[in-house]
Amino acid sequence: TVAMAMQKLKRVQVQRADRMVHDLRMASATPLPLLRQVADALVEEMCAGLEREGGSEQLKMLPSYVENLPSGNEKGLFYAVDLGGTNFRVLRVSLGGKKGEVLSQEYKEVAIPRELMTGTGKDLFDFIADTLAKFVDTEDTSLEPNPDKTREAGFAFSFPVRQTSVKSGIVIHWTKGFKIDDAVGKDIVKQFQDAIGRSGHNVEISALVNDTVGTLAGGRYNFQEETMIGCILGTGTNACYVERADAVKKWKDPLPKSGEMVINLEWGNFRSPWLPRTFADEEVDNESVNPGDQWFEKMVSGMYLGEIVRHMLLKLAEEAALFGDTVPGKLRERHSLGTPCVSEMHADTSAELQVVAAVLHQNLGIQSTSLEQRRIVRDLCDMVGQRGGRLAAAGVYGLLKKIGRAGPHKNGFAMSRKKKKTVVAMDGGLYEHHLPYRKYMEEALHELVGRNGAYEVFLRLQNDGSGIGAALLAASHSRHTKP
Ligand code: GLC
Repeated sequence: TVAMAMQKLKRVQVQRADRMVHDLRMASATPLPLLRQVADALVEEMCAGLEREGGSEQLKMLPSYVENLPSGNEKGLFYAVDLGGTNFRVLRVSLGGKKGEVLSQEYKEVAIPRELMTGTGKDLFDFIADTLAKFVDTEDTSLEPNPDKTREAGFAFSFPVRQTSVKSGIVIHWTKGFKIDDAVGKDIVKQFQDAIGRSGHNVEISALVNDTVGTLAGGRYNFQEETMIGCILGTGTNACYVERADAVKKWKDPLPKSGEMVINLEWGNFRSPWLPRTFADEEVDNESVNPGDQWFEKMVSGMYLGEIVRHMLLKLAEEAALFGDTVPGKLRERHSLGTPCVSEMHADTSAELQVVAAVLHQNLGIQSTSLEQRRIVRDLCDMVGQRGGRLAAAGVYGLLKKIGRAGPHKNGFAMSRKKKKTVVAMDGGLYEHHLPYRKYMEEALHELVGRNGAYEVFLRLQNDGSGIGAALLAASHSRHTKP
């Protein structure tokens, strides 16, 4: 009878876990009408943010000062420095001067030591200037840089920056786990340029760009004019787009000749009652270094998906004894389940869910699980990934609406027979490597745009967008070569 009682308890526990998963699924649901509401709310905030400085509390709508998007004819040797996520990269690119030609490209990637992410500006910039200096020293001298031997670099700095020119800007605040208070409110290029000076090298930063803007620029170089949007789904998430300059009401300077401006939304900070938040999102937010900020980012991007799943598992373990009588200790440890683990488990299609079993074992120390338990874990990964991918699609759809490229049709008809093409240049580890996520995003975007509209939308991976893009923008804003 003890055995029978135990069995009954087990059954009740599984039922309880199932019910909780079901409730979470309802709470995380992103049906099409909800995605449309999200997109509309985003457009509304975009308009408010363009109207006047601080017009939207959520979206900064930052003008990039990029006047020349690459034409494809850029030529010469350029460097780029890419700071914005878990890793930091330096690149050297030799541009051929003919449509989109890259003659050679080299890079070096280093992990940012954790303590530098929350230390002082000087320490951080000395570290990256040093890495850049060492990399410059490996340059093949047969490659000719600019005539006066000044090397030029684009700086992809992927945090909110109020630009004051194409090569200067003030840090507004930090995101994605960085918090360097003494750097806020100061010109970021000056801080970096000073550190480069201390390293004894001569590298001039000729463009300061957000990674989304770099990605857009890379897209223009490769896929040409149809590229209107740059979007990052990586550690964080964000997008930029090409706006009509006269729509940027808050702009006080003379309008650029091109009549266009690239605007960085900083959409990570978007929030709306339409966003399907759960208790897990609240936990993740509370535990972050920037509670209350970046809600959209915390539901969509790579730094947080693993944490959301971890919190869900913890609750299931505590309230439905998902992993037996004791709660696995690792589940209480922050970042014990990274987003790459979630991607792997999500993509596990084996009958026995062996990948799920291995991840649970290796990362959370949970030995021997039943297929039923593993299925629940995989379901949670799927749910969180699906929600993230679909919300990202809603964001892109909002941008398409804003620039009048979401279709459909005048009076229900496509306006011209020939479909107009729009390309969204994509980059970021989450988009690149988390394939089920990417698929959810693509599907949702096609549902939103519809197949019969006047526009065709393509998401294109712009590999290394921020780095190459920054080098390209350094080239198109170079003092030495005319684009
Ligand atoms: C964060 C940053 C933003 C960046 C994005 C993707 O949201 O604030 O500037 O573009 O991450 O890296």
